[in-house]
Amino acid sequence: MNLRPTDKKMSSSLQGKKIVLGVSGGIAAYKAVELLRLMVREKAEVFVVMSANAGKFITPLTFESLSGNPVYHEVFGEQSSASMPHIRAAENADLLAVAPATAGAIGKMACGLADDALSNLYLAFRGPILMAPAMNDGMYANPAVQENISRMKQRGVEFIDPEEGELACGTVGQGRLAEPARILQAVQTRIGRDEDLKGLRILVTAGPTREPLDPVRYITNPSSGKMGYAVAGQARLRGAKVMLISGPTHLESPNGVKTIRCQQAGEMLALVNEHFPDCDVLVMVAAVGDFAADKVQKEKIKKKGESLDLKLMPTPDILMEVAKTKNRQMVVGFAAESQNVVQSAQEKLTRKNLDLIVANDISAPGIGFQSDSNQVTLIDKAGKIDSLPRLSKREIADILLDRIKDKSEFISEN
Ligand code: C5P
Repeated sequence: MNLRPTDKKMSSSLQGKKIVLGVSGGIAAYKAVELLRLMVREKAEVFVVMSANAGKFITPLTFESLSGNPVYHEVFGEQSSASMPHIRAAENADLLAVAPATAGAIGKMACGLADDALSNLYLAFRGPILMAPAMNDGMYANPAVQENISRMKQRGVEFIDPEEGELACGTVGQGRLAEPARILQAVQTRIGRDEDLKGLRILVTAGPTREPLDPVRYITNPSSGKMGYAVAGQARLRGAKVMLISGPTHLESPNGVKTIRCQQAGEMLALVNEHFPDCDVLVMVAAVGDFAADKVQKEKIKKKGESLDLKLMPTPDILMEVAKTKNRQMVVGFAAESQNVVQSAQEKLTRKNLDLIVANDISAPGIGFQSDSNQVTLIDKAGKIDSLPRLSKREIADILLDRIKDKSEFISEN
């Protein structure tokens, strides 16, 4: 196999990119000014589109002066979508980023309602979309808002989670617009690092495993698969050829990713063994069960009002088995720890012959299993330890992929 060096420089510039910045009517609209400035500094051409209410917080003139482009802010009146060339240009841009996205704007977009400049443009736009919500914490937690967000996510819209902190209404909670620098980073990931993993063949495992006891019962764990699906999805967006081997989850296969589903650790081992020789990197995110029934009962085990003895046997350690056969491949593991996080993960890294391990503290509340965010530490075999702040699983996936990319010798031309 021919190996080629990768461009180690992370392309941070947005030169040549056209971005639509959608601003809806919330107090955080003033932060859109800072975001616009950052995008312009990265040399993007930015077209601002405002919702009907955004103008109550900030004037089109501010955005017009900073972007150097006309601002689309009214559907009726002087601006009409048929005649204005800048609206056509916006519709054909590389990305639409809505920041801040209020509950109202999200609700309209989720339902396909178009009654102002922003909601009209959203429906007409065909490229990738990022939304950065900002609102009161109660509104953000409301099931109606959450349902709208998941509906949009299912349609491929990316969300940059709001941060926790003091809100404009005086309460403290999750609802603050993500910092403009974080939103910029998400924009760069989506369109600024065009295909930076092209040529990389990456095999990802995700989700729990399920070991049957009888026809209706099984042993499993609460892994949602979100972390592994985020790694697979982001790797694909960045141009890698991705195969995902997934235990049982409710998640849809990420766009462009070949997903093979399985149930038991033994099945996952067979699939990983089959596909490992054809990959450059294995990222083993799956929460593989450690024990399986010695004997699976053919009939449902009867409840007799007395205790039941089960004999459990260890499952194969997929990562350890596969890492023994690696030659040029890079092997990455995940470690969920409840104590001595770094030390235990380091020990696993050595014992399982890994190149990199991602450790997280499962005793910390509100992160890890099931959650959309996590707080992890990356440890490589050279002993480099990187403790990351709490981030969305998508952001963690991108940082991990950056680290994988840095090992340029693993990138192949196929
Ligand atoms: O030893 P521990 O389960 O904490 O190791 C976690 C890492 O090992 C994860 O990357 C997980 O996918 C992998 N693993 C495995 N097979 C097992 C158990 C864990 O591949 N039976």
